[in-house]
Amino acid sequence: MFKEYFQYKGINFPHIIYSEQVLQLVENSFQVRDDDIFNVTYQKSGTVWMLEILSLILSNGDPNWCRTVPNWNRAPWYETVMGYRKALTSKSPRLISSHLPAQLFAQAFFKSKAKIIYTVRNPKDVLVSLYHFASMFRPYKDPGTLDQFLEDFLKGDVPFGSWFDHVKGWMNLKDKENFFFITYEELQEDLRGSVARISQFLGKDLDDAAIDAVVANASFEAMKSNKMSNFSCAPRFFMDHKKSAFLRKGISGDWKNHLTAAQSECFDRIYQERVRDLDVTFPWDKK
Ligand code: A3P
Repeated sequence: MFKEYFQYKGINFPHIIYSEQVLQLVENSFQVRDDDIFNVTYQKSGTVWMLEILSLILSNGDPNWCRTVPNWNRAPWYETVMGYRKALTSKSPRLISSHLPAQLFAQAFFKSKAKIIYTVRNPKDVLVSLYHFASMFRPYKDPGTLDQFLEDFLKGDVPFGSWFDHVKGWMNLKDKENFFFITYEELQEDLRGSVARISQFLGKDLDDAAIDAVVANASFEAMKSNKMSNFSCAPRFFMDHKKSAFLRKGISGDWKNHLTAAQSECFDRIYQERVRDLDVTFPWDKK
């Protein structure tokens, strides 16, 4: 539909949803409150999953908010034109989502006590998820073949730029008190334990029943059948659900069903080069 991207400080953004003016406002003038909670990810890393978990934690496990308010209004993406306005008027404590790389994030955050939860996912699964998403999300360019898209992804020639730069930029904050990072794979392995850790980071003392309720309502099945979480009520103008569901498979390791051995090796080579100086071992590095 819109076909081309515009660049802001060297990063691609799709038109209409994003504008240079709002990106500038976010970076330079957005007033961060000390009780803000930011849900930050590189796209397709489990953003809406974390959004659901955070919504439920703030509601002590009560699913009412999640079942009555679309996720984009519970935790607006503040770098979008619409989300920016919504975030300005949201009541505290605000939940705010973002795919921005660290260098474009609200500068005020770095002097605040606001908290960030940063979720990282195996980039091969991000690639596959993004490939499907790009075919259904109309503001994105048609991804072409997986081979072409793999090249664009590895070069960072996709919206929000390079996965490697995004992760490196944010992981610089990993020793800060107000920064919590977790992987999609940890959520898959142990959702209950992850919810308990996230609640503790947020200073929310949930009892066992509340944690159980968060886990039950943030499952893939629960989210897929919740209209406020599965994007079925998003304008058709934006999403073509016939091409792919937003909540598509919800598994780890789907890349094995899509990448050839040659594509996987090419990915590994660049991955090794690009993450060499990152002082973190992710779950997928161990396998
Ligand atoms: P797949 O395309 O691999 O299925 P984001 O929210 O960052 O755009 O990420 C979307 C990905 O997270 C999709 O991955 C989606 O299915 C997955 N996801 C969303 N909710 C999930 C849940 N409750 N459990 C597991 N995966 C989930």
